[in-house]
Amino acid sequence: MTSSIPVGLDRYRDIIPEWDEFLAACRRPLAVDLRVNTLRIRPEELRARLENQGIPLGRFDWEPTYFRTTQPVGATVEHWAGLYYLQEIVQSVPVAALDPRPGELVLDLCAAPGGKTTDIAARMENRGCLIANEPNGRRQQALLANVNRIGAWNTTVAEYRGQDFPLGDGFDRVLVDAPCSAEGTLRKEPSLQAGASAPAIRRLAGIQAMLILRGFDLLRVGGWLVYSTCTFAPEENEAIVAHLLERRQARILPLSVPFPHACAVTAWDGVRYPKEVAGCLRIYPHHLDSGGGFVARIERVA
Ligand SMILES: C[S@@+](CC[C@H](N)C(=O)[O-])C[C@H]1O[C@@H](n2cnc3c(N)ncnc32)[C@H](O)[C@@H]1O
Repeated sequence: MTSSIPVGLDRYRDIIPEWDEFLAACRRPLAVDLRVNTLRIRPEELRARLENQGIPLGRFDWEPTYFRTTQPVGATVEHWAGLYYLQEIVQSVPVAALDPRPGELVLDLCAAPGGKTTDIAARMENRGCLIANEPNGRRQQALLANVNRIGAWNTTVAEYRGQDFPLGDGFDRVLVDAPCSAEGTLRKEPSLQAGASAPAIRRLAGIQAMLILRGFDLLRVGGWLVYSTCTFAPEENEAIVAHLLERRQARILPLSVPFPHACAVTAWDGVRYPKEVAGCLRIYPHHLDSGGGFVARIERVA
């Protein structure tokens, strides 16, 4: 982690090869994506219900539980009834990488408002046990409301600071969807077009370094950790994964995905990261015409 971080998206020019496409996507309005709640309805049934109301839905070949539309779909009976969750397609990637299975013991360490928690519960078919942890009381209310609306009955909510989550029985899967500078959400939050501030990046990197270590220590041997953010800053992404690799018996499980993406960087601002870090993913707004993010999948080895 460096002492001086220049601000502004421009600092990523050298690591984003399709720079003009990136900038154009950052300036375009965002489409509306929704994830079908497969605990309650099949994708084609939901599609028929919404299309009957004049809401056309596009599909993603590689992710059949998501649809895309240009129309507002937040105020339908189907939404209130928990038949779907409004969530950008880029948010599906960390959960697909986690690959939680029915019957497993799973921890979502930074869970509110519950977009990924409810996706995990659906992939677990409501079987096994999912702990959704969120220390912020106000955000925890939103998490509880979403768990309830979606009917994620295998889920229980905890309220620790992630770095203090009690060590105990090993989890099969841990998701650390860390608090971050959120540059990848700039299409929803225009103030982020200027890039994150240097002090914010430094402060968040300190928290992320603690969260990834605790998340990893909560795994059983052979269990998987997914570390994800919605930001571009290598100080919050590759540097945090490198921090873990230097301190624990951890192995990166390289990710291969069926859509355009970039590999993680192995050097930034004069710092070199272990070469295995290249097995992590960077997703920019032009890749999925969605938000941006970073995803790493890591196994705990004996
Ligand atoms: C990126 S958001 C999580 C989004 C969520 N996974 C989803 O998909 O809906 C990060 C969350 O981490 C929480 N958080 C902040 N500091 C934390 C800490 N020390 N330990 C655990 N969670 C923390 C924030 O309150 C926020 O709700």
